[in-house]
Amino acid sequence: MPYNSVLSGMDFDLSEEHVAVQEASRDFAQNDLLPGVITRDNEQKFDPALIKKMGELGFLGMMVKPEYGGGGMDTLSYVIAMEEISKVDASASVIMSVNNSLVCWGLQIYGNEDQKQKYLVPLATGSVIGAFCLSEPEAGSDATSQHTTAIDAGDHYLLNGTKNWITNGNSSSICLVIAHTHPEKGHKGINAFIVEKGTEGFVVGKKEDKMGIRASDTHTLMFTDVKVSRENRIGDDGFGFKFAMSTLNGGRIGIAAQALGIASGAFELSLKYAQERKTFGKPISEHQAIQFKLSEMATRIEAARLLVYKAARLKDQGKDYIKAAAMAKLYASDVAMWVTTEAVQIHGGYGYVKEYHVERHMRDAKITQIYEGTSEIQKLVIARELLK
Ligand code: CAA
Repeated sequence: MPYNSVLSGMDFDLSEEHVAVQEASRDFAQNDLLPGVITRDNEQKFDPALIKKMGELGFLGMMVKPEYGGGGMDTLSYVIAMEEISKVDASASVIMSVNNSLVCWGLQIYGNEDQKQKYLVPLATGSVIGAFCLSEPEAGSDATSQHTTAIDAGDHYLLNGTKNWITNGNSSSICLVIAHTHPEKGHKGINAFIVEKGTEGFVVGKKEDKMGIRASDTHTLMFTDVKVSRENRIGDDGFGFKFAMSTLNGGRIGIAAQALGIASGAFELSLKYAQERKTFGKPISEHQAIQFKLSEMATRIEAARLLVYKAARLKDQGKDYIKAAAMAKLYASDVAMWVTTEAVQIHGGYGYVKEYHVERHMRDAKITQIYEGTSEIQKLVIARELLK
């Protein structure tokens, strides 16, 4: 098969439905998210009323089937919405991304009917939000090294351990927790569980004081003899690592779209600023030094968008998308970091202060090279797919 054969099946024009999603998410971002974005970043707080509105507008369960309370949309719709929302507020988009890709998607694909009725429906409608708990103090990139244990105690499991850097750590009500049941079996002994907040022994720990995506809450979660009923295990015994990896494949498309949005947001601000700001008697957009920056920023963003759309399309077509998702995340996150740094440079001193937004985009961009698999892990995933 020719290396780029999948592109030939791509429809580059957005459908009416996709344009409608783009407009709705752009309106929400401009009207609801933009006004308080600097304050939320400063105060490290996300307004629960905004999460409620995101739920009402259908942004929290976009790919969930309507019978479970979701929007029944495709992955392309989701990435389009992620881009628009990330242009303005990457804290909002990570809350959205974790709920859509890492929590709802996994439950819809691998949960049983009872789990879907009980947990997926409230998550998809946004009446509650979820968290995905894989990372640990000693299990970040090396995700199989889980120290959290879930010991089989008959009709329930006993969960013990600590999870780190958990997005929606405090604001979530439902957590998907990855833990070892049979450490001697390596990754084949790992399980995934649905754990409700408020269960005895489940404590929300330290809130992280982060460089970027500051309005989204990131916490350590601790589990001490937490009883989790057998019905809350997802899939067969030992399916947990596959569950996590499979869920992350899709999650990486969401984060790639977030990176694309951060880059696009910073670019749009730079384009506007360059036409308004004058130096040496003319707008800086008329200086070749700035034109070259704008040209390269736009080109890299277009290339990132193609990779993100391609990964989304492959997923929607039921084709293998592991490599495409990793490539999209690897490339789009680098573009986000580079474009936002150039955006600050174009803005000069103004770019270094919060009022002009681009410094926030630059801080927010960095995490896209780290979470849901670092850039180094994406390269490893791509190489394994190329060499298999
Ligand atoms: N998709 C599906 N299955 C996969 C997979 C993938 N991408 N990667 C591995 N697997 C499967 C393998 O096929 C293998 O299964 P079999 O035994 O049946 O063959 C099994 O998983 C184990 O795979 P490996 O032997 O390759 O495992 P490894 O330990 O060598 O490496 C890894 C795996 C790819 C490095 C993996 O650990 C990884 O992806 N690490 C990064 C973890 C990560 O992304 N963390 C993000 C945290 S979540 C987060 O950030 C959320 C947030 O808050 C925003």
